[in-house]
Formats: sequence, structure tokens, C-alpha cells
Amino acid sequence: MDRVSSSKARTDSATPSNFDEVATREYVGGVRAVNALATVTRDRDKRPAMPLCDKPSPTLRRRISARSFIVVIDPICRGWSAFQRAFLLQFSATVGKQHWEFRARQGGLVRRLRKFLCKSGDYQNFAAGESALTGYDCVMKSLPVSYARQHTSWWDAWSVGKVVLSSHLAMGPQRDLFERELRQLVGVSCAVAVSSGTAALHAAYSALSLAPGDEIIVPAMTFAATATAAIHQGASVKFADVNPASGLVDVASVKALLSDRTKAVVAVDYAGQPADIPALLQLARPRGITVVADAAHSLGSSLGNRPVGSLADITCFSMFATKNVAAGEGGAVVTNSADFDKRARRFASHGIRREPDAPVDEPWEPWVYDVAELGLNYRPSEMQSALAISQLRKLSKFKDKRKKIFDRYHRELAEIEHLGLPSPTEESDVMWHLFPVRVPASERLALFNFLHSLGIIVQVNYLPVYFHSLFADAGYPRGLCPGAETFYSQEISLPIHAGLTASQQTRVISAVKQFFCGKRH
Ligand SMILES: Cc1ncc(COP(=O)(O)O)c(C=O)c1O
Repeated sequence: MDRVSSSKARTDSATPSNFDEVATREYVGGVRAVNALATVTRDRDKRPAMPLCDKPSPTLRRRISARSFIVVIDPICRGWSAFQRAFLLQFSATVGKQHWEFRARQGGLVRRLRKFLCKSGDYQNFAAGESALTGYDCVMKSLPVSYARQHTSWWDAWSVGKVVLSSHLAMGPQRDLFERELRQLVGVSCAVAVSSGTAALHAAYSALSLAPGDEIIVPAMTFAATATAAIHQGASVKFADVNPASGLVDVASVKALLSDRTKAVVAVDYAGQPADIPALLQLARPRGITVVADAAHSLGSSLGNRPVGSLADITCFSMFATKNVAAGEGGAVVTNSADFDKRARRFASHGIRREPDAPVDEPWEPWVYDVAELGLNYRPSEMQSALAISQLRKLSKFKDKRKKIFDRYHRELAEIEHLGLPSPTEESDVMWHLFPVRVPASERLALFNFLHSLGIIVQVNYLPVYFHSLFADAGYPRGLCPGAETFYSQEISLPIHAGLTASQQTRVISAVKQFFCGKRH
């Protein structure tokens, strides 16, 4: 135990400035530890097949960073093949930061190694191993923590890799399977997989025949694509205000904007919170207006026990890299309307019809298809779909992890005066995509810079859409949606994602406390 705490003291003294030097030392320690482990372990299969050098050559030494150390740790813990280790060694030498963050999730493996070293009673190697682990700790502490990111595994990589070697790289069984699993998950009859959330919105708007002369009402607090996809269809966009505490669309503001030309109302499930779609449906249905849910943030959430996806007339998901389900890029349109489904699917594939009733001026032979309307290629690749499936199957695990993070922020940050924490409405069960806190507008930039200086990469989500010059130049004035502008001036998104470790969250919490409490007391 004493040895462990003395190594902790060394960790703290390893500052980023002497990082390379420390890393080199730790690398050598790591190699010794791993070689020792390989000798004493009973499971001979875990012996590193690739000879590990005790001392790095001068060339290697130049390239060594603490990255290499992790590569040394990995083989013994995972029993990877020599090829994988060689690949990783190469990979780690070239990829840098990103790889670090990936490896950061292997904390459990490092704990196993530490336990093993303790048990083995081999003090010389224990010391070497501890020295190596010190390097690991040092690295962990200097890793940036991002407000959102994917949580992928070797299993995800395997799922995609299999597809790369299969007969279909596009338009194959993975897309169909993804659509089927998504339909089952959200409880709808139709799902169209597409290549991004923006493509999903565009296909949905096309499916409801949004066209020049029509108006669409979109909340001002969203990513621009919610509005720009409608402009691609030639529609005019009206911006509805949002609740300045939650960022969710204000139904009264929507009501005030309705006109004879309103074709659709869009609800954005900001940060994962389901918007009040039942209230919007009540407004829209009698007027023949379609309610669209932009659920880019909220796959996995539900309202009144109904999953997001089954609430609105048509719902759009995003599977972008940082979303609840990450396919790199990806999206889906889900609906219970067979007509919307058919039209969205057709639009996402060049407007092609294959039905025998298509009005092509040609005998309907097997090779014939008809392009009868404008469409685009918004189809996902099979690799995207495979990754989406693999991730979708872990959705409830991801949700639990996000919930734990959410609860801990609430427990530990609630005491801070001037910090507004997000809270779900009574009826909703939220899969938190973002953790949007509100701080006094005058302190937001200082907090943002302070957290970034500590490697905590927070973000502001979002500028009210009409602040962007595309809209400002078209005459949308400042002050249009006061609720959205207030929310924007105060909002900052703290890190929340399924890969966020407890110690990373501790860093975030301590930094926020330091900012608000440290300087006041
Ligand atoms: C609310 C919202 N709508 C739409 C999109 C567009 O999704 P994608 O990036 O997959 O095109 C995003 C993506 O960030 C989003 O956050």
C-alpha cells in the first residue's frame, strides 16, 4: 500500500512539461513489467509473442511517448495477437491524442495489472510496473475530456470489419436489419435508414410534400440543419421561441406563428428531452399540419412511457459520431405512415420507383426503373448500418451510463449557487445527450475558457439559428426569440457520454467548483 501511495506522489510531480522524459522512463518500466508478467503468468497463451525490448533503440526512443507504454500494457491484458500488437504499436506512434482517449477506457485492465503486480510479490518488477502505471496515471490526467464523443469497442470494429469483407458494401442486409431493429426499438411500423440526420430531415420534409409557398415552424434553439433542410425544399422558415430554462419549444409561441400556409411544425428534443409533442399534435391535427420531431439528440428517451420515435407524425434521428448511437455519420426517418415511409425512402434513393405502376414509357421489364421525381442519394453504406446496429444493441447500457453521470452532476453540483442544472419533465425518461447547465451570462466565457485551459472541452449548444448570417442576411432580426437568446447567453454543455470515466467526471466537477466556489471563498 505504501508503495502505491509513493507512486501516487510521483505521479503528481510528473507535469506535462517533462512528459516525454517521464514517458520514456515509464515505457522501459512497462516493458519490464510486462516481460515479468509473461514469465510468471500461468496462462502461457498470454505471453507476448512479439519480443519486447528492454530498452528502446535510439530511433524508438525518439518516437516514444507515453502512448507506447499503453501499447505495452495492452497485450498482456487482452491476449492480443502479435499482429494486433504490432499494428497498435505502429498506430500509437502515429495517431496521437485520439488514440490516447481510446485507450483511456482501458482503466479496468490497468487495475488488473496493478492487482497482479501486488499479488506476485516480485518487488523488483512490482517497482517497475508501478513506475509504468505512474506513467499511465500521468497520461490519464492530461487527457482532454470532451463534452460529447462516441463510445465504441472492438466488437463494433469487428461488426464493421465483417461487412467490409462481405458481398454488399451498400444496399444490403445490414441496412434492412438496422431498419428492423430500429422499428422494434421505437415501436413504429416504418423506418428508413439514411446517411445523416440532415438527410433524415430533408427526406422527411420531402415526404410531407414541403414546397415553395409553404411555411414550417422550427424552434430557434437547434442545430441549423433543422431549418436549412426545409429551405432546400423551398419552404419559408418561421422561428418559434423556447423555454429559457429547458431549451424546449414553447407551444404558445408555435401557436402564435400558425397561418394558412403552415405545412409542418418541428419539435426539437434538445439535449435528449422529449418536447411536448402531444400538445403540438393537439394544435396541428385539426389544421391538417404535420408534426415532425427532430430527435437527433433523443434516441432512447421516452415521454409518458412512449419511446421517442412513436410520438410525432414523423421523426428524424441522427447517428452522427457524438450522438447516442454513433455510426460515424448516419440517420433515420421513422413513422407509422406508410405513405411518408414510401416517399422518404424514394427521395433518399434518387426518387426511383420500381413499382409496376410507375409511369415509365417503356414495357415493365425486370431491369426497368423510373425516376419520376427529384431525389438524392441519401442511402447509408452497409458499414454505417453495421456500426449503427452494433451501437443500437448497447443503447440501454449507454443510457444507464449517461444517467449515472447525470445523477452525479446533480448530486455534486446542486450546491453551487448561480448554476442552473437541467431537469427532466415529470413524464419523461430522458437519455441525456448533452448536460446543458446555465450560468450567469457575464461568467459564461470565463468558465468556458477556464475549463478549456484544464483540458475540459465544453461546448455551447447552440447559437439561435437566426444568428447565422444565412438567416440574418435574409432579414431575421435579433430579439426575435427572447427565450432562445437568453438560453444561448447562459448555456454551456458539460461532458456527458457513455465513455466518460468517474475520474474524468471528478475532474469536471472539481473544475466547476473551483471556478464558482474557489474564487469566492
Ligand atoms: C438537433 C439536430 N438536428 C439535426 C442534426 C443534423 O444531424 P447530422 O449531423 O447527422 O446531419 C443535428 C446534428 O448535430 C442536431 O444536433
